[in-house]
Amino acid sequence: MDLQLSGKRALVTGGSRGIGKAIIDLLLAEGAVVSFCARGSSGVEEASNAWSRQGYTVYGAAIDAMDESALNQWVDDSAERMGGIDIVISNVSTRISSRGLQRWQDAYEVDFLQHVRLAERSMPTLQSSTAGSLVFVATIASVMANILPVEREYGTMKAALISYASQLAHRLAEHGVRSNMVSPGPIDFPGGFWDWVKNENPELFKRAAMLPALGRHGTPEEVARAVVFLASPAASYITGANLRVEGGALKQTNY
Ligand SMILES: NC(=O)c1ccc[n+]([C@@H]2O[C@H](COP(=O)([O-])OP(=O)(O)OC[C@H]3O[C@@H](n4cnc5c(N)ncnc54)[C@H](OP(=O)(O)O)[C@@H]3O)[C@@H](O)[C@H]2O)c1
Repeated sequence: MDLQLSGKRALVTGGSRGIGKAIIDLLLAEGAVVSFCARGSSGVEEASNAWSRQGYTVYGAAIDAMDESALNQWVDDSAERMGGIDIVISNVSTRISSRGLQRWQDAYEVDFLQHVRLAERSMPTLQSSTAGSLVFVATIASVMANILPVEREYGTMKAALISYASQLAHRLAEHGVRSNMVSPGPIDFPGGFWDWVKNENPELFKRAAMLPALGRHGTPEEVARAVVFLASPAASYITGANLRVEGGALKQTNY
């Protein structure tokens, strides 16, 4: 299947490792041009250089997506460099360490408002594309009532994000822009959250692996394939979808 991504211009937040990096790997392999960000300059540089060596066109920037003015500037600069934006993949989440009500405030900023800022800033340039598309990386924690205590605020804010992204699908349809979501289950990769759990709390890691019907954690590549398909013109009649990539972790019929 041709995803029709050749020459498409994509923006990806959080692309130096994990799910974001796997998304960029695929976008580039399918012929897209990518602008991505992450906070750590060494991670950005290392990933950019590796892709450039393979002959891909990729622009990396070391910015904190939580910094509103830096994020806005990065969106504008990316649109200028690439001559527009066709695809926005809002992937960043940041583990927070605050407690109590401050934790709710921080989760609101990280897992909700930051995504809204990115989408709103990108909207004018997305609307001038002939294949405008947004994909938000959510989580199955958004629909779980019984989740890890450390994920309560995260799950709640990602649920709000799913509501926002669904509304966007309707708001932007008349401008030819689609909005979809992907909700991963537990995804393991070196340097990621579950890799840390594997070392710190092997029992919890094992329990999480038993949650999916498939009996294991997923990989970033398995999530990336769903994200890139939904982002691509090959998914031209899909908007407002929330695709769960969770190996059957949620014991519900997905009507
Ligand atoms: N991993 C899972 O099991 C899982 C499950 C469900 C949903 N998800 C969702 O999938 C998405 C990606 O998760 P992941 O596990 O791949 O992420 P991750 O390992 O936490 O980080 C991925 C990337 O985001 C960058 N990043 C983090 N905070 C940033 C910030 N404030 N500004 C700019 N870049 C930032 C990181 O680089 P720097 O640290 O250098 O900034 C890295 O490149 C998130 O939305 C997450 O909620 C993940």
